[in-house]
Amino acid sequence: MSKFKKGLEGIIALETEISYIDGEKGILEYRGHRIEKLAELSYEEVVHLLLYDKLPNTEELNEFFNKTKVIRELDVRTKEVIHYHNFNIEAMDALMTALAHISQGDPDLNVNTPEANIRKALRLIAKAPTIVAYYQRIHEGKEIVKPNELLPHCSNFLYMLRGEVPTKLESKILDLDFILSTEHELNASTFAVRVTASTLSDIHSAVISGIGTLKGVLHGGARLAVMNMLDEIGSPKKTEEYIMNMINTKQRIMGFGHRVYRVVDPRANIFRDLAKKIAEEKKDMKWYDMATKIEEVVTRELVEKQGKPIYMNVDFYSGVIYKYLEIPPKLATAIFALGRITGWLAHAMEQYSDNRLIRPRAKYIGEHHSQDKEISKLTKD
Ligand SMILES: CC(C)(COP(=O)(O)OP(=O)(O)OC[C@H]1O[C@@H](n2cnc3c(N)ncnc32)[C@H](O)[C@@H]1OP(=O)(O)O)[C@@H](O)C(=O)NCCC(=O)NCCS
Repeated sequence: MSKFKKGLEGIIALETEISYIDGEKGILEYRGHRIEKLAELSYEEVVHLLLYDKLPNTEELNEFFNKTKVIRELDVRTKEVIHYHNFNIEAMDALMTALAHISQGDPDLNVNTPEANIRKALRLIAKAPTIVAYYQRIHEGKEIVKPNELLPHCSNFLYMLRGEVPTKLESKILDLDFILSTEHELNASTFAVRVTASTLSDIHSAVISGIGTLKGVLHGGARLAVMNMLDEIGSPKKTEEYIMNMINTKQRIMGFGHRVYRVVDPRANIFRDLAKKIAEEKKDMKWYDMATKIEEVVTRELVEKQGKPIYMNVDFYSGVIYKYLEIPPKLATAIFALGRITGWLAHAMEQYSDNRLIRPRAKYIGEHHSQDKEISKLTKD
């Protein structure tokens, strides 16, 4: 048996053509394209790239938009499910529950061909934001806002959530948030998706496995933790003391550290620039100033003094941006899932295309009991 590595750190578990990370140099590519270049595109273009392995030309992009904009609305029974659960469950649980419900009505549920999986993938990408927006509106006791076919994917989500068309910068920022969040090689939730797909379970179930895994605070839940931390600190003046206290009491600072990157996460740099832009547009530097102070203290104390590679990751400034977009903190992880869903779907389809059941081994470290006595006697002892 091969060597055991806790947390599977550094283990190559499979081959992929979807994304590439160089954790030493801070490089991230989706299908061979650098993230900094992809950040200049729209989310729809990146979705096309991930699902079809091709950046779309104008005609393909229009066709893609026309196909997805008309399937955003939910069926009546799924809306009832969201209404029924709304006060009792969190957004991520609502997303899992509603998607499980949607899967039951999907005409391709039990068809696992590449064509059927693309159809299901488009429906999942189009409908998931509607679930989260409806969940939040119902939760707030407001009327739901139906999808607007004139708006692109991300602006439509903000529109359904807030009931008004977002500004150009707000739309661009959410677009970028989705682009930067959508894919990241074999992170924990994508691994969960691939394990589920490798059993030849359906693509809805694979995505639901991903949502359950993303929820944890060491993964997508860190974004919510960053927003809560900013709220708790409350002002730029209190930041140094707060972070020093966390460091001295050996607490983890959310939005920092990464299993793969040994330098700054390249997505975090793009998010930092965006956070500054939106802070300036809103003429409110408070959250941005607090964030830069946190970054300064963590770098000084953990990187420079302790020599640990604990740099900001994707969740740090994205949490700051959500403060400016006035996104309720409880939606932070669910919105991450709305971006990540495309990466999960691309990975599930890649898994189906050349499948082998993912089934590693465990090293048994328990006792081996004597084989001499009968088991019935052992239980009486
Ligand atoms: C992401 C994360 C789980 C990766 O962890 P990992 O590869 O398993 O690294 P480890 O947990 O082994 O940590 C290595 C060391 O760095 C420290 N460390 C890691 N992340 C830290 C953080 N955010 N704040 C403070 N210390 C941290 C650990 O305490 C440990 O120190 P030690 O060697 O003195 O015990 C971890 O960095 C973390 O918990 N970050 C905060 C949550 C977060 O932002 N998650 C989103 C990831 S995109």
